[in-house]
Amino acid sequence: MDGSARTNPYLAGNFAPVRSEDDFDLTVTGQIPADLRGALFRIGPNPQFEPRDPNHHWFFGDGMVHGFYVGDGKVRYRNRYVRTPKWELEHTHGRSLFGSGNPLANDPLTVGNEGGVANTNIVWHAGLLMALEEGHHPFEMDPKTLASCGYVRRYQGRVTAHPKIDPKTGEMVWFAYGVGETPLSAGMSYGVTAADGRVVRRDEFQAPFAAMVHDFMVTENHVLFPVLPLTASLQRATSGLPPFAWEPDKGSHVGVMRRDGDVASIRWFNTEACYVFHPLNAWEEGDKLFADVMRYPAAPLFPKADGSPGDKTAARLVRWTFDLAGASDAIHEQVIDDIDGEFPRVDPRVETRKHRHGWYAADPTASKTVRLNSIAHLDLQTGKRQVYELDGGDATSEPVFVPRSATADEGDGWITAVVYRAGEDRSDLLVFEAQDIAKGPIAVAQMPRRVPFGFHGNWMDF
Ligand SMILES: [Fe+2]
Repeated sequence: MDGSARTNPYLAGNFAPVRSEDDFDLTVTGQIPADLRGALFRIGPNPQFEPRDPNHHWFFGDGMVHGFYVGDGKVRYRNRYVRTPKWELEHTHGRSLFGSGNPLANDPLTVGNEGGVANTNIVWHAGLLMALEEGHHPFEMDPKTLASCGYVRRYQGRVTAHPKIDPKTGEMVWFAYGVGETPLSAGMSYGVTAADGRVVRRDEFQAPFAAMVHDFMVTENHVLFPVLPLTASLQRATSGLPPFAWEPDKGSHVGVMRRDGDVASIRWFNTEACYVFHPLNAWEEGDKLFADVMRYPAAPLFPKADGSPGDKTAARLVRWTFDLAGASDAIHEQVIDDIDGEFPRVDPRVETRKHRHGWYAADPTASKTVRLNSIAHLDLQTGKRQVYELDGGDATSEPVFVPRSATADEGDGWITAVVYRAGEDRSDLLVFEAQDIAKGPIAVAQMPRRVPFGFHGNWMDF
């Protein structure tokens, strides 16, 4: 381990990369349900080489896909790098060439290379498994072999890692930020991919300021773009200051438009400075839009504009209400939970529609770290919350819901999660009854090694 690995938290412990591409048959304890058949794909950053940038950030490591293939009570595991143009160029030269989000930190050999790490989310839509990262085109992966198939160029540019798939129409609704010729700009895009995979819309507009817009919200008829004060600045980057930084004075702005509307019609609502990496879901009733979001009082993981460290902070679920018929552009906010959490998910069959159930990785100990030590289920109809706490420094990934069948009620199914076993420096795939999280996993598939902390995952029926 070199000096950077000792000092950089994103290269240490279970953040450290795993550099082998493996195939394992996992040992199962408990009972994998007979009807649980398909694959959990997870993705996260996993730098191929020691980063050249002394300010290496977790978000900028090469993507690696981890596939857990489940069927007949058994689990197979396969992991492969996403071989982006960046990965290929660095592989050719045998060393890191790109910086950590700051274009000025790149080696001259990167000129003309498209780059990309494709490390943030992995989504199945219109027959394509796509590794997503918010700065580039989606990147196609073969769902069985996890072989890299290349950028999906019909998207014509960068796409969020958090598109929403409308369960009724099959459309994939998405956006992009930092769009345009100038890096770290306020340019944004709004896009729609039809159920058959055709990109039918990509329109551009300007955000109130340049910011990291990690995720957004979509309802049956509306789209909401949260532009929150984790700002982007090329001027800062060229002055040796952080390209992305917390600037609370700019406040929080959420642009609302109809999904079929013109981007010129976006109405900007506002609230006090906060940050949201991930909403749970959004829906509409009459003239009101509702969004349940994991809200941080200040952006975590990023510095302040002067380069000083950011505050340690944690997120909790709040409900935002937007009154489209009202004269006020203020967002009404209501707290709906009282433990720290991240990676909130709903049953994908109710995404963009009103949900009853939510699951998230939680930290009831309020440690304000990204080591999430519990899985929580919230029933928003009864107000009941169940929590399963892990022991001894173990930490969970995002919980991913799998319906028991295509026609099962919302929330009737299983939760899958990949858990890091700190004491053994290893990982396990856990399966829970989705509405009985507190009783613990009904099946555990044991990995012979660890899966580094990553970002997102999704289930795909095979
Ligand atoms: Fe995310």
